[in-house]
Amino acid sequence: MKDIFGKALLDYYNSIFSDYEAEDIVTWTNISDKDVLPLPYLFRSYKEMPKLEQKALQLAKGKVLDVGCGSGCHSMYLQNKGLNIKAIDISKGAIEVVNQRGMKYAEVLDILDETETFDTILLLMNGTGIFQELKQVSKYLKHLKSLLNPNGQILIDSSDIKYMYEDEDGGFWMDTNANYYGELDYFISYKGEKEIPIKWLYLDFETLKLACESVGLQCELVLEGEHFDYLARLR
Ligand SMILES: C[S@@+](CC[C@H](N)C(=O)[O-])C[C@H]1O[C@@H](n2cnc3c(N)ncnc32)[C@H](O)[C@@H]1O
Repeated sequence: MKDIFGKALLDYYNSIFSDYEAEDIVTWTNISDKDVLPLPYLFRSYKEMPKLEQKALQLAKGKVLDVGCGSGCHSMYLQNKGLNIKAIDISKGAIEVVNQRGMKYAEVLDILDETETFDTILLLMNGTGIFQELKQVSKYLKHLKSLLNPNGQILIDSSDIKYMYEDEDGGFWMDTNANYYGELDYFISYKGEKEIPIKWLYLDFETLKLACESVGLQCELVLEGEHFDYLARLR
């Protein structure tokens, strides 16, 4: 990983305090064209967050782990509210940003290498993306389950992206022999530099629920968003 995402986060954070100019990130996938991801969105305040994320923050309690914390928008909000929160990310740049922002406990760490236990685990902004592929979901869920204290909860959001395969006549052009339709190849570039492509998984709620049942987790639909997105609570 070249950590282009982390570089963009650092540039944006530094640009707030200097003349340094950050640019927006450009993203695209194997089924969608180029799109701009505005950097300020990654630093969104509670008021600017989608309702699903606000709800997750309202439900967070006890010792919290923010998985894939990015700029720390969720972690900082909870820390400021007085919660005991650890922020982790595989991006060095992201962790540098959250440290500069004053996070008390942050670490460059892959979720699969986490060993502490928590009362709440947050995975937000398509939290299932981190699982990468359908065949890896059970491995991640089992590991997340092992990190839960008694009565602990995992709060995770995702979307059913079936709509991305819909044509103008309302038909679907999905290849039924292909892998699960939510498995995407995800590309990002920043200031003309391309990141090594990653796999990014969008999971519809029913598939997530089935996967949870197979590893002994209860999966509850907490809230549906405005565009096929949802927040789930796993216990
Ligand atoms: C879509 S961003 C979301 C950032 C932040 N949660 C937000 O809502 O703004 C996903 C983040 O997950 C991180 N990530 C990806 N795979 C990870 C893993 N296996 N363990 C920890 N973090 C990971 C990425 O580096 C990135 O910062």
